[in-house]
Amino acid sequence: MVIEAFDKVKEIHEAIEATIIDNKEALEAFRIQYLGTKNTIKPLFGEIRNIPNERKKEYGQLVNEVKQAAEAKFNAAQNALTAQAANQVEAIDLTAPAEALELGSRHPVSLVLNHMIEIFDRLGFTVAEDSEIEDDWHNFTALNTPEDHPARDMQDTYYIMNDPSRLLRTHTSSVQSHVMMNQEPPIRIIAPGRVYRNETISSRAHCQFHQVEGLYIAEKVSFADLRQTIYYFAKEMFGATKIRMRPSFFPFTEPSAEVDVWWGCETETDKRITKGTGWLEILGCGMVDPAVLKNCGIDTDKYSGFAFGMGVERIAMLKYQIDDIRLLFENDVRFLRQFKKTAIF
Ligand code: DAH
Repeated sequence: MVIEAFDKVKEIHEAIEATIIDNKEALEAFRIQYLGTKNTIKPLFGEIRNIPNERKKEYGQLVNEVKQAAEAKFNAAQNALTAQAANQVEAIDLTAPAEALELGSRHPVSLVLNHMIEIFDRLGFTVAEDSEIEDDWHNFTALNTPEDHPARDMQDTYYIMNDPSRLLRTHTSSVQSHVMMNQEPPIRIIAPGRVYRNETISSRAHCQFHQVEGLYIAEKVSFADLRQTIYYFAKEMFGATKIRMRPSFFPFTEPSAEVDVWWGCETETDKRITKGTGWLEILGCGMVDPAVLKNCGIDTDKYSGFAFGMGVERIAMLKYQIDDIRLLFENDVRFLRQFKKTAIF
């Protein structure tokens, strides 16, 4: 009887050691048999009452060892199976045709901006950049915009909290001031970048947008040079055959003009876009006011220059006939996808 009980323990221990667990089902079967609620080890503990006292300790130890062996075997097998699953590599069919890569598209603002940089590059303009957080002097004072000018109004300009001398630049004309302060003429730069204005957002206006500023300062620069530069730009960007310049006012240029390109007035769309005139306004420009040159330390006896500034979103909207500026900031892929084939670079 006692011998039998000891044999039984030995038999179960050997059966545990001999079990091969090489899949999930085998693992579960092992768990049910040796660790489940009705496992085969439990009854061995019950047998202890039939073992003579002097051998009870020895028996108990053996049964405990069986239990531990079952637990150890289960844990090891479980870990091995988990690791195996993680390492399993899906079968790869090397002969299958590759999936086509979906090409992204450039943002229309980037397309137009790159195109502008490229056009002006051909005329010898290099790109200048400066800070979006600007001081009052570079954004306004240097550019001949007096203290009481409406452009400084809190309505339009975002000032930095607790520091009214600093603001988010309202135009990239601020880069002019930096370049003139730091470089000797001849200066021939364009300054593309983001600008900020405290505007109510609508289909036509946004509180942040992009501008390209242009500045050319050298000896004997004339209004004819300005006109020819703008004409070249309009021809390259819009395929325009003619431009017109209307007298205007900007604090930093004298004389100043606004430039329209001839769009045409044949179709209903032409009429809608140009409000029936055939002309589209694209930018502001003028001869740099000598007061601005002086503010920035440029010798006005020797040098003169012209400047111009335009909104990149506006040009993109005209070029691609986008009727709501907000589309340019929402990044809806259904909108952006349409520019796939228009890539300029
Ligand atoms: N800074 C002007 C604006 O934001 C645009 C501009 C107009 C720039 C005329 C110029 C210029 O350089 O000559 O509306």
